[in-house]
Amino acid sequence: MDLWFRSVRICWWRVLLLMSVFQDYLSSMLDCPPTCSCSQTEIYCNKSDNGRFFPLLALQDGNGTGVDIADLFKNITSIHLENWTGLQTLRDVDMELYTGLQRLTIMNCNLRVIQPRAFAQNPHLRYINLSKNPLTTLSWQLFQHLQLSELRLDGVVFDCGCSIRWIQLWQEKGEAGLHTQQLYCMNGASKIRLNNMHINSCDLPEISVSHSSVLVTEGENVTVSCNGSRLPLPEVDWTVGDLHSINTHLSNVYWPDIHSINLTLFNISRDDNNFQLTCIAENLVGMTNSSIQLNVQFPPVILRLAEPEKRHDTCIEFTVRGYPYPKLRWFHKQTEIKENDFIWTDKDTYQDYLEGCLLFKNPTHLNNGNYTLEASNHLGTVTKTVYGHFLNDEAEIGEWTTFFFFFTQNVTIAVGLAGFACVLLLVLFVLINKYGRRSKFGMKGESAQLAGQGREAQKAAPLAFQNQPIRTSSGVFVLSITLVLTPTSLPSSATLELVHHNVTCHKC
Ligand SMILES: *[C@@H]1O[C@H](CO)[C@@H](O)[C@H](O)[C@H]1NC(C)=O
Ligand SMILES: *[C@@H]1O[C@H](CO)[C@@H](O)[C@H](O)[C@H]1NC(C)=O
Ligand SMILES: *[C@@H]1O[C@H](CO)[C@@H](O)[C@H](O)[C@H]1NC(C)=O
Ligand SMILES: *[C@@H]1O[C@H](CO)[C@@H](O)[C@H](O)[C@H]1NC(C)=O
Ligand SMILES: *[C@@H]1O[C@H](CO)[C@@H](O)[C@H](O)[C@H]1NC(C)=O
Ligand SMILES: *[C@@H]1O[C@H](CO)[C@@H](O)[C@H](O)[C@H]1NC(C)=O
Ligand SMILES: *[C@@H]1O[C@H](CO)[C@@H](O)[C@H](O)[C@H]1NC(C)=O
Ligand SMILES: *[C@@H]1O[C@H](CO)[C@@H](O)[C@H](O)[C@H]1NC(C)=O
Ligand SMILES: *[C@@H]1O[C@H](CO)[C@@H](O)[C@H](O)[C@H]1NC(C)=O
Ligand SMILES: *[C@@H]1O[C@H](CO)[C@@H](O)[C@H](O)[C@H]1NC(C)=O
Ligand SMILES: *[C@@H]1O[C@H](CO)[C@@H](O)[C@H](O)[C@H]1NC(C)=O
Repeated sequence: MDLWFRSVRICWWRVLLLMSVFQDYLSSMLDCPPTCSCSQTEIYCNKSDNGRFFPLLALQDGNGTGVDIADLFKNITSIHLENWTGLQTLRDVDMELYTGLQRLTIMNCNLRVIQPRAFAQNPHLRYINLSKNPLTTLSWQLFQHLQLSELRLDGVVFDCGCSIRWIQLWQEKGEAGLHTQQLYCMNGASKIRLNNMHINSCDLPEISVSHSSVLVTEGENVTVSCNGSRLPLPEVDWTVGDLHSINTHLSNVYWPDIHSINLTLFNISRDDNNFQLTCIAENLVGMTNSSIQLNVQFPPVILRLAEPEKRHDTCIEFTVRGYPYPKLRWFHKQTEIKENDFIWTDKDTYQDYLEGCLLFKNPTHLNNGNYTLEASNHLGTVTKTVYGHFLNDEAEIGEWTTFFFFFTQNVTIAVGLAGFACVLLLVLFVLINKYGRRSKFGMKGESAQLAGQGREAQKAAPLAFQNQPIRTSSGVFVLSITLVLTPTSLPSSATLELVHHNVTCHKC
């Protein structure tokens, strides 16, 4: 309770002392109503009061410096009012600042009327206690948007009638703890138990819609129909707030108990694909709803086709939209790309969007060129082309040539015979290994080239086996060069650097 005043009767000198000590706080605090006690989360008023209005925290000081007033109200989670004999009407505005309110008790007051939107700003309300108030009726619509775990109405004697039939139904369904309460209503002069109330022509609306889903093509018109039936005659409406297509409602009543509404959508927009058309029927007793799923077909469009981008694998990113989902095909050099371990598509769907990548594993300049994406469904076909420029290997080959030039030059000048033979053997081994399979020296290039050639090439030269020996031999190869060249001291440090450069570059 610390800083809050418990009552107005508190000695004024203490107030002044407090104010001087906690000036800063107090200037931003709100004042608790006189007959209540307040904390930061609760307003508790159990003393008789004949105030006519719902308690409202009042600003203590002209300026609420630094503290958000809305926050102060929002932090109140519980309000308890008891014996407030003057409180007859709960107005729409009374509780709208207490947006964080969870528990509300207004008991033994003189409450007769609760305005229809009284709880509209209190979505967190779970517990409402209206015990012992002279309410004669209560509408279900007050609680429509709340998830009440408990609604206490003990000691309230309603007027028997269709307007409280919903309480009977909630009791039957065991909703909001109403089934645990002994409730009564006045039937003329006699007080009867609510369970024993029988009202004719007073039922929950029934609803029937013309379709469970509709499939249309963009630009067409469609009409769907909804009937709300039972008495009292329900209000029927389609919720079309977020609909993009132009629409009209046509209402008709088939007396005595059917209210029918036709909804027509004109020139249907693709943006309404997947829209849920919901029809709502409500009357005094309650609300019923039913939905129709709208599926709008339209030809594909390619919204985005980006240039290759290096990620984990290299990706040509695309976004395609269409319904039914279009089939995608890729073309490169006038032929369709067959997916394999080196080129494949990875895609995801979101509503009517297809998003994804044409992925390349270690592409080379051989993969350079135009890539065409074709998207088609039964309504049409579109294509879009992007130029893919991949890592160019020419430079690397150049480096290797230089390397071999130096290598041969040095070796021919002066080398121990054993070393020469050894190196020559290794070189031969490597050359045979590589040229014999018509591939380049770069290991990167090799797999990428295979990628370009597709599955056939892969089968012809099983890669997993082939790659390993080459790697090993290159390792030994490099090692031997260093051993052989060092004693001759012929190559300049620049040459050695070049050697090292090449080695490291091709290991990465
Ligand atoms: C009001 O409630 C407080 C505690 O919340 C209690 O101490 C006090 O006795 C109550 N007053 C009356 C009149 O019941
Ligand atoms: C409220 O008023 C009733 C009588 O109307 C009394 O019995 C009860 O004690 C009062 N409650 C409080 C908390 O003052
Ligand atoms: C409120 O703040 C204004 C300026 O921000 C100031 O002029 C005024 O005196 C303050 N009023 C009070 C009651 O503190
Ligand atoms: C409201 O509550 C939050 C956390 O529960 C707290 O950080 C904030 O200071 C409170 N605001 C006021 C004005 O008491
Ligand atoms: C709510 O109402 C019941 C029945 O009238 C009463 O016994 C109970 O104390 C009330 N609950 C609260 C939290 O005030
Ligand atoms: C609505 O009621 C009318 C009249 O009974 C009937 O002709 C029509 O088929 C009904 N429509 C639906 C969607 O149930
Ligand atoms: C849709 O309705 C409008 C207005 O009634 C009409 O002009 C148009 O021809 C209709 N379109 C189709 C595809 O039926
Ligand atoms: C609603 O549409 C149905 C056919 O879908 C038609 O039979 C009925 O007459 C229409 N009702 C109104 C009020 O236009
Ligand atoms: C239908 O809608 C499209 C855009 O959604 C618009 O371009 C076209 O002119 C519309 N057609 C008619 C007949 O209103
Ligand atoms: C339809 O009814 C269900 C439960 O009956 C409810 O949860 C839902 O919010 C209602 N939908 C609309 C749009 O009112
Ligand atoms: C790629 O396509 C563009 C036009 O889209 C064309 O100008 C260019 O010559 C094509 N390049 C190749 C390598 O086919």
